[in-house]
Amino acid sequence: MSDEELRTTPGILSEMKRRGEPVAMLTCYDFPTAILQDASNVDVILVGDSVGINVLGYESPQQVTMADMLHHTRAVRRGVRNAILLADLPYRSYETDSQAVDNARLLADAGADMVKLEGAEEVAGRIEAITADGMPVVGHVGHLPQTWKGNRHVYGDRADEAARVLTGAVALEAAGAAAVVLECVPEQVAGVVSRALSIPTIGIGSGRRCDGQVLVAPDLLGLNDFSFRYSKRYAELGRTAGKAFARYVNDVKGKRYPAEEHRYRIRNEELRKFKALAEE
Ligand code: KIV
Repeated sequence: MSDEELRTTPGILSEMKRRGEPVAMLTCYDFPTAILQDASNVDVILVGDSVGINVLGYESPQQVTMADMLHHTRAVRRGVRNAILLADLPYRSYETDSQAVDNARLLADAGADMVKLEGAEEVAGRIEAITADGMPVVGHVGHLPQTWKGNRHVYGDRADEAARVLTGAVALEAAGAAAVVLECVPEQVAGVVSRALSIPTIGIGSGRRCDGQVLVAPDLLGLNDFSFRYSKRYAELGRTAGKAFARYVNDVKGKRYPAEEHRYRIRNEELRKFKALAEE
């Protein structure tokens, strides 16, 4: 297999873990961002169901539909050439094995290389069914946004919960998962889980001992007002965009935009003809 083929193959993720190379993953929901992320050499681009909260104005990830995921997966696909494209199966789209397989196929047709779903032992059968159908699957344990009801974001800071994260992740690997996202799991627990698996763990809010990291792009870019302990803002694009919009509105109101350099012109001869036509 050539380097290029290997790069876009999910098997590369376990190979990276063996080499000790961290996996970098980012969420993405649109074409222009996909182009920028792909050029950044990110390994995996995730069309997450966080699209609901971050882009569609929904109040809950439970409102995200397959139609939403397909629409955004197609847009991202058009901008991705090198990274692995991972897409979320949304809430209630994998309640049975056959529904999971059908919806994974739809995401594959929309351009996904892999799909992700949330849950532990209870979704192991879904992972087996989807992988048997030829689509690699990423699991997701710890804090589960699709079914979260409580007020504690952290999952696994009690021994029984931590044990469930471990046994769940082990079950997902046994079912054939290509990687497992660990969300908001204490760093020490994530370290134990990462050592127990041969597939990579991709952490979000799970500390430094995971085999890779994922962040939600609008959090990283400063496009929203969310503030999570685990997140890191690498830019303040929301503030920059807000200022740019306000300057534009001021320029229009103050008749400073458009200026001479922004207009198109018609030659004098054509203008004369046009005026004659207009008078007719
Ligand atoms: O949808 C999403 O953004 C995710 C990340 C939290 C991993 O699933």
